[in-house]
Amino acid sequence: MKRFYIETFGCQMNVHDSEKVIGTLEERGYGQVQTPEEADLVLYNTCSIRDKAEQKVFQRLSENKKSKGKVFGVLGCVAQQEGERIFDKAPHVNLVVGSASYPKLGELLVQIESGGRRVTGLSLDSDDTFETAATRRDNPHKGYITIIEGCDKSCAYCVVPFTRGHERSRASASILDEANALARAGYTEIQLLGQNVNSYRDPSPAGWDFAGLLEAVGRVEGIRRVRFTTSHPRDFGREIIEVMDRTETLCNQIHLPVQSGSTKVLAAMQRQYTRDDYMRRIEWMKASKRDIAISTDIIVGFPGETEEDFEQTLSLLDEVEYDSIFSFKYSARPNTPALALEDHIPDEEKGRRLMVLQERQRAIQLRRNTALVGTWQEALVEGRNSARGQWIGRTSQNRVLNFVAAGSEQPIGGYVPVLVTRAGPNSLAGECAIAV
Ligand code: 5AD
Ligand code: SF4
Repeated sequence: MKRFYIETFGCQMNVHDSEKVIGTLEERGYGQVQTPEEADLVLYNTCSIRDKAEQKVFQRLSENKKSKGKVFGVLGCVAQQEGERIFDKAPHVNLVVGSASYPKLGELLVQIESGGRRVTGLSLDSDDTFETAATRRDNPHKGYITIIEGCDKSCAYCVVPFTRGHERSRASASILDEANALARAGYTEIQLLGQNVNSYRDPSPAGWDFAGLLEAVGRVEGIRRVRFTTSHPRDFGREIIEVMDRTETLCNQIHLPVQSGSTKVLAAMQRQYTRDDYMRRIEWMKASKRDIAISTDIIVGFPGETEEDFEQTLSLLDEVEYDSIFSFKYSARPNTPALALEDHIPDEEKGRRLMVLQERQRAIQLRRNTALVGTWQEALVEGRNSARGQWIGRTSQNRVLNFVAAGSEQPIGGYVPVLVTRAGPNSLAGECAIAV
């Protein structure tokens, strides 16, 4: 048997892509191993969202130099961005494949198996049918489903349109087939994936928009939790909140990346919304009868961001009171419109802004988590922390809720009521009264 090793960097889209790649390889008779040393085929599924992420793959490639007969492949966003230049930077690489070419991975492997030295799959005009019969999911309870690939926005900082190409929506029937198949296989949670799920448009005659699709997935028998990521504020319509209000299985969670609290910086970022537009969406969420946890992404130090602009991002944190944030220092990326702007803010200053931001958010999170002490939350049991004698659970709001239970046997993948007894900035702790 041929053995492969794969390491995945980046977002959930990449994690799910790797599941498809693993499925394809296993179908072709490859077996997965846990170290590059044991493997005949070493694959890195890469991310290029920031320079640091991109550097990781070149670091890995230099750590793992060619050994006789071993094939190295670079997949994903760095593959698409750098293309054949990867062969120059790392001559021991034999395979370079962007995500739009995964449906052709089988053919590309045949070329590799028959001795191909520089095999590429780099076309971005994919005729992606999303039909990936061979997805190999690791988690038996939560399943990702791709609903839309690529991105047609042109945010000034973002490399994704260049690494994942134009938007392509998947037919609703195909999505629902996959959701039903997951439910039949015992999955209870589904996460719908896309770079901009809100611009989903069913290409089949049914013609659903995202809200319609969400409602249908929420009604799939056996599915208890549905999440989706990622949303773009400009395309985020009120009807999504309305669907959430009437569909219990949709989780109390929305991730709505804002990037900056300054309308001036948002314009420079080509985000196509103002701070007020964004706040209107937050108000819809807060007016919902669901207790929606809101999270976001923020970039500090975008070209032209003044101290005052940054202060506006801080005041946005206070105004929204996010349940969690992901925050980053601006990193100039190849091909992006922002390259034309001078990246003038020194790295130390970006680092300082990031620290101030994260400090401010930490206090907000602690406050919001503390407000949940004394409430009951339904937790999906995700695992066991034996060292601490705790079960690891996750709430509908996507909070980690570690808990102790009367019985020693909690079924992983089960749902239990947990009383929240303590809170930290990043997680909750509690007690489950029932021994299951
Ligand atoms: N520099 C820093 N952060 C970035 N992101 C995207 N591009 C860049 C960049 N060039 C962040 C955004 C996005 C998240 C996935 O990564 O906040 O929402
Ligand atoms: Fe990284 Fe973006 Fe590619 Fe995801 S889509 S792997 S975040 S560059």
